[in-house]
Amino acid sequence: MARILITSAIPYINGIKHLGNLVGSQLPADLYARYMRARGNEVMFICATDEHGTPAEIAAQKAGQPVAEYCAQMHQVQAEIARGFRLSFDHFGRSSSPQNYELTQHFAGKLADAGLIAEVSEKQMYSHADGRFLPDRYIEGTCPNCGYDSARGDQCDNCTKQLDPVDLINPHSTISGSTDLEMRETKHLYLRQSALKDDLEKWIDSKKDWPILTTSIAKKWLNDGEGLQDRGITRDLNWGVPVKRGDQDWPGMEGKVFYVWFDAPIEYIAATKEWADAHGRPDADWERWWRTDKGADDVTYVQFMGKDNVPFHTLSFPATIIGSGEPWKLVDYIKSFNYLNYDGGQFSTSRGRGVFMDQALEILPADYWRWWLLSHAPESSDSEFTWENFQTSVNKDLADVLGNFVSRITKFCRSKFGETVPEGGSYGPEEAALIDRLSTGLRAYEANMEAMEVRKAANELRALWAAGNEYLQAAAPWTVFKTDPDRAGAITRLSLNLIRFYAVISQPFIPDAAASMMAAMRTTDDSWPVDVAAALAALPAGHAFAVPEVTFRKISDEEREDWQTRFAGIRT
Ligand code: 2FM
Ligand code: ZN
Repeated sequence: MARILITSAIPYINGIKHLGNLVGSQLPADLYARYMRARGNEVMFICATDEHGTPAEIAAQKAGQPVAEYCAQMHQVQAEIARGFRLSFDHFGRSSSPQNYELTQHFAGKLADAGLIAEVSEKQMYSHADGRFLPDRYIEGTCPNCGYDSARGDQCDNCTKQLDPVDLINPHSTISGSTDLEMRETKHLYLRQSALKDDLEKWIDSKKDWPILTTSIAKKWLNDGEGLQDRGITRDLNWGVPVKRGDQDWPGMEGKVFYVWFDAPIEYIAATKEWADAHGRPDADWERWWRTDKGADDVTYVQFMGKDNVPFHTLSFPATIIGSGEPWKLVDYIKSFNYLNYDGGQFSTSRGRGVFMDQALEILPADYWRWWLLSHAPESSDSEFTWENFQTSVNKDLADVLGNFVSRITKFCRSKFGETVPEGGSYGPEEAALIDRLSTGLRAYEANMEAMEVRKAANELRALWAAGNEYLQAAAPWTVFKTDPDRAGAITRLSLNLIRFYAVISQPFIPDAAASMMAAMRTTDDSWPVDVAAALAALPAGHAFAVPEVTFRKISDEEREDWQTRFAGIRT
């Protein structure tokens, strides 16, 4: 039994995530966690909400709520939706937790002790009316390039030119509207990543099995221009982890907080401590996942994320870990994803474009979405959600193939043999051939799941479902029954066993359907079918079952058109 630590990139708190976010980290991480547990491994699966930074402040302001209250509420909302999608986190934490405050300040202290933090004085826009320094995106004015009158301090949305707040004509604070602004001297902390370049490079070079997408992004930043840049890790905001050096105040850093990207990945560790605390467990229980001096040296740590997150996970976070000089667990494998597009454009949270997680669950159960998203995961390139494709996949794979198999054989059995697994007959060459095919297919499925090749795994699973369907179609127990009821009984017995087999192996993709298939077969034996022939004998003759409700229904053309129209616009 292996020990596997799995983290999903932690979603920003500001608003409900869309399906593109879901398929880029949380959902494939859940697939992997479920598979690894099903194979008998010990898994710790961690996610959280990413609660700091300007976007959280702005969203709270828009909602007219204090930011702490807004975050607490949105965390509940995101947690509820995650449950709806059956994301099986061991803990869904909050980056604003006391545990993360403490750990973030701890890391900063260790990095400072190691001489890896520089204090840098720079000039920044100060607003007298607001009594604070303004982050770039809290300043607006006229773009010097195109004349657009609502250009932000960091960028003009009209002409896309990257800006500095000082470039803006007639700048004003977006908080108060005040134009009483002044460039003032202020001090910030920089993480001296450049001093860690060699260590990071050596570490990345040792990761021979990492996907090209991951290493090429890391290498690009390592060797970009003058090489790896030092990073500002503090901000002038109220909301965030206060800048401290361990538990000591940091002179000159009063009123400042750590940059959200500094504390967010530390939350992976802190959330594991939150898990231990929530269950009244001792520190040793979370430390055995994270401290190589306390048992984590035999842990395999896998991270899931969208490609835009890769630099932070290959460079900044490892710089924090390595620089601390303490024996923290570094990631072993990074699985990153391209983007999922929506119907000819991009999913967009800020523009409200696409299908959002709560809306998806309002129209169909989680398994329909899980199956489509995972079987179309944007792995080797970006992929696209279209309603036509969604309808076709659901109707074909789930309703016609898997759902139809389950309903056909259970109903046939009930009508001819009653609701118990029939006796009689023995298996012949057709069954041997099927078992052979299933064994080969299952090994391929396992290999792809192991390698986190999500689409390939989905293809193998679909082929396994299809093999059972084809067998049943060819064996035709409904015809055989007329002349040889015993033989029909044998075919039916095998096919009913296939339902349990499918439930067990499909559970990582479609957990609810798997659970209802298991319930219908009145079994709790979810042991992995290492030996396919033995697995197909798990339910003996005489074992009672029930004909399940419809496992998967079809999506009609009317529904598809209706949804297409409903989700064509912009969510407000
Ligand atoms: O891109 C995002 O959604 C970020 N909130 C991911 C943070 S992952 C990590 F560092 F914790
Ligand atoms: Zn412009």
